[in-house]
Amino acid sequence: MKQINIELETYESLQDLTRNDRTLVEAALKRLGTGHAPYSQFHVSAACESADGEIWIGTNQENASYPVGICAERVALSVSNMQAPGQAIRSMAIVYRDPSGRHHDPLAPCGMCRQALSEQTQRQEAPIRLLLSNEKGATWICADANSLLPLSFSLKDL
Ligand code: THU
Repeated sequence: MKQINIELETYESLQDLTRNDRTLVEAALKRLGTGHAPYSQFHVSAACESADGEIWIGTNQENASYPVGICAERVALSVSNMQAPGQAIRSMAIVYRDPSGRHHDPLAPCGMCRQALSEQTQRQEAPIRLLLSNEKGATWICADANSLLPLSFSLKDL
């Protein structure tokens, strides 16, 4: 039998985070709502902290041709790789605005973004911490984004 576990640190409030982590979540929150989400009204913002301490943001960008839309996480990864080429991404904060008001807990990245995070981890040969948070401040910290995509397919399989 093979068992796979995911460990998350959980916090009720942004005040419980380290100053560095709080800064990253707040950077993502600051841009929340500036994306393009006229179809779902569901805004997501992601902030990457690169190894040199810089912060790069991405927001979700939807399109009338729905599959053309891109998630905040993959925009942030692209911006970070473009603006800070060769710099590893240490952490990514992901926050969302839920128009239904139903969610208390943070949400985790979609499958496609997990795959993109997995390849980024392989490229930089270092894990990416995820800070999953929301406007209410509840935050889950995952030490390695790859743990959200167990048994993943990657370059080494080709
Ligand atoms: N979305 C993200 O930006 N990241 C995710 O991980 C999940 C979903 C966006 C895509 C779309 O614009 C909206 O949220 C609703 O799916």
